[in-house]
Amino acid sequence: MKGVILAGGSGTRLHPLTRITNKHLLPIYDRPMIAYAIEALVQAGITEVMLVTGGTHAGEFLRLLGNGHEHGLDRLLYAYQDRPGGIAEALGLTERFVDGDPVLVMLGDNIVERSLRPTVERFCADPIGARIVLTAGQDPEHLRSLGVPVMDASGRIARIVEKPEDPPSPYAVTGIYCYDASVFDTISTLEPSGRGELEITDVNNAYIAKGSMAYDVLDGFWGDAGESIDAYYAVNDFVRTHGANRG
Ligand code: G1P
Repeated sequence: MKGVILAGGSGTRLHPLTRITNKHLLPIYDRPMIAYAIEALVQAGITEVMLVTGGTHAGEFLRLLGNGHEHGLDRLLYAYQDRPGGIAEALGLTERFVDGDPVLVMLGDNIVERSLRPTVERFCADPIGARIVLTAGQDPEHLRSLGVPVMDASGRIARIVEKPEDPPSPYAVTGIYCYDASVFDTISTLEPSGRGELEITDVNNAYIAKGSMAYDVLDGFWGDAGESIDAYYAVNDFVRTHGANRG
């Protein structure tokens, strides 16, 4: 399985910190944020990764991460996103790297307490369709800034609503997704959303419509450190006290 880490975007929710750097280079406790996503993938057994970034600080990722060997990767490749066109657009840039393999996609600002290995193993056992990672226990106010699944009576995801006024379930969709290679065909059919981006939620809803979406509910802490300055500090506090990517 290949890995893709998405580390672009303009980071407006962390302004003014992100006027002078990319948010994924900001510290989380004792390391730059991006190091945690790389560690999560390596721990899940993924050693070939493409990192997608953009903007004026892209070169700094190369200086920080180089060929990835120090972080336990066999191969680290880079793609450059010309404009912040959304998560799905960024993922589309990795098609040739993924080259027909199953892929784990992780947003570079997502930090997890526990290993992603169980999700990767389940997907690799039957690498067709998609498998996404949900988290429980976020408060309703927080759910309004995330993707939230609508669950049907049999416990399957009926659809995902992006940033709902009235959250339809207590779960949030994290930025951790397993896809088969048909994801790139879906991305090529997407239209930009109201915020002018190709939305990963539209990709996931396409898999749901085809009846090929599975999910796991994450064990332990999950945080999106790029969501707001308070979320950034909450993630820092958690990692400083408890660590991250624990087996
Ligand atoms: C994105 C996704 C959203 C998901 C979140 C997790 O939101 O669109 O569905 O819940 O990442 O970090 P964004 O950070 O682009 O607002």
